[in-house]
Amino acid sequence: MRETRLPHTRLAIAGLLVSMLMAAPASSADTKLAPLPDAKKVNADKVELGRKLFFDARLSGDTATSCATCHDPAKGWGDGKPLSNGYTSIQYFRNAPNLFNAGHRSYFMWDGRLDGSDAGTLVRDMLTEAHTMNMDSRLAQERLKQVPEYQAMFEKAFKGDPYGGKIYGAIGEYLKTIRTVDAPLDKYLRGDKGALGEAALRGMALFEGKAGCVQCHFGATLSDGKVHATGVPANPELDKNAERQISMLRHFSTQGTPNYMNLREDVGHYVVTKDKKDWAKFLTSSLWDIGQTAPYMHNGVFATLEDVVAFYNGGGGEKSGMKPLQLSDAERADLVAFLKSMTGKAPTEKAPVLPDYKLRTVGKN
Ligand code: HEC
Ligand code: HEC
Repeated sequence: MRETRLPHTRLAIAGLLVSMLMAAPASSADTKLAPLPDAKKVNADKVELGRKLFFDARLSGDTATSCATCHDPAKGWGDGKPLSNGYTSIQYFRNAPNLFNAGHRSYFMWDGRLDGSDAGTLVRDMLTEAHTMNMDSRLAQERLKQVPEYQAMFEKAFKGDPYGGKIYGAIGEYLKTIRTVDAPLDKYLRGDKGALGEAALRGMALFEGKAGCVQCHFGATLSDGKVHATGVPANPELDKNAERQISMLRHFSTQGTPNYMNLREDVGHYVVTKDKKDWAKFLTSSLWDIGQTAPYMHNGVFATLEDVVAFYNGGGGEKSGMKPLQLSDAERADLVAFLKSMTGKAPTEKAPVLPDYKLRTVGKN
């Protein structure tokens, strides 16, 4: 199986040591399933502010798109579409990922291009990129200053006016509160042995054994935090849709990808390292809440978990180095039952009531 460690500027030296250790295949002691990580400590005032901002379309250029447009709690914090729509008429070339446990990613984005511990940068990109919210951060802060309730909330949370970094920080704080709730697998791993039914238990044995899923999906995030080429098939919609091709080439171009005008496929992590060994590698997804986040993979090409299991059963895609699993129909059904046990309750989060603009009196403020 081909795997790579991601570059990580802050931890470059530690990473070098770890990559020497990681050259050997992970031992079974490393690849155990573990319950969800504990919730991160948060500042309640920042979370309250971040919640409102997450749902507020005034943070987009044309005041019509909020984070929740593409990360809708009612759709498992995604948009339910194979490929994301993007800002206004711009069509994006990848799926909008779910945000469950977003406070615990090793890296953000399907290609692993952002540091998972730096939510501020992620939020800034989502707000300012032309294909997501197309917002100028100075305009964002001026708009928020015209809303007295926001002004007061910023004062309370940050002791200051609305400002770029504080906007990103508040939304980043809110992201930490988006968690899987009461997934049967989590309960089981915490000691409630009755939480999994017989089919799920048989599926778990396959996941950890014959099907080999646990080689990449393990630990408290159900992900090794690394990129792999599993050879997920292309989504034909990307070939047919010029807008999506343009979004993809634009992304390659902004990342300084060599020879990008001649690329027609999503090359994944290659744009980060420009190293051929990272061609079409994507970050191992966390599988928590997988039963409510369809469709699947970076390009949403699989509509159901049965499709995903059939893909792995066939040995993954071309050049993946994965072997066919030879699972019977019954075993495949058990594996799906186990995947569903990673799913918690549907989010109850609803769009909050948003505060209104209030015209300021000229000369008074
Ligand atoms: C127009 C749709 C759209 C909007 C609006 C949007 N996003 Fe996203 N978001 C995406 C897509 C698509 C990706 C994946 C991009 C990629 O991998 O290239 C993504 C990725 C993410 C990720 C990384 C998740 C992961 O597992 O890697 C987070 C976190 C996130 N968005 C949060 C936000 C926040 C917070 C906002 C509002 C400030 C926002 N998004 C607005 C579409 C959107
Ligand atoms: C070699 C590492 C590796 C192995 C082994 C592996 N996966 Fe994955 N898995 C990944 C990567 C990488 C992705 C993201 C791929 C993409 O989007 O192109 C992924 C994505 C997924 C997704 C979709 C997640 C989402 O949010 O869209 C599911 C479901 C999944 N894997 C289940 C499994 C199951 C079940 C097995 C065992 C049969 C398995 N995986 C084995 C690396 C692996």
